[in-house]
Amino acid sequence: MADCDTLVARARAARLGALAEYSGFSVGAAIETAAGEIITGCNIENATYGLTMCAERVAIYKALSDGHRDFRRVVVVADTPKPTPPCGACRQILWEYAPEAEVVLANLVAVTASYSMRDLLPAPFDKSHLK
Ligand code: THU
Repeated sequence: MADCDTLVARARAARLGALAEYSGFSVGAAIETAAGEIITGCNIENATYGLTMCAERVAIYKALSDGHRDFRRVVVVADTPKPTPPCGACRQILWEYAPEAEVVLANLVAVTASYSMRDLLPAPFDKSHLK
């Protein structure tokens, strides 16, 4: 298991790769697999604005695409004094693929909050409703 400092450091480093010229708001994410591997992502914006992809989804899509399926922690880093939580779209995707993950929020100097996915999405729509 990677220690939290390592994961936070990887998310901070990933944030430096953000393509955030429209909002000026750079975000980094790092996701830890059950086997202890770390996959990172940054937000990627687009001139259409609406096609922007958040750092969390970039990280988890990279991980899923590489065959990872079990996740235990996600770290999100932004340069804000108060915690920057995942948006609703990211919560939905994280619920589907990383429901057991701890979600740790941090800025450039400290960890600012930690949540379970159930905290972040208390009444989720998921595949159990498709019956
Ligand atoms: N953003 C993320 O990447 N993750 C979050 O948790 C919040 C928002 C991005 C999307 C957009 O590129 C910018 O931050 C401003 O919303």
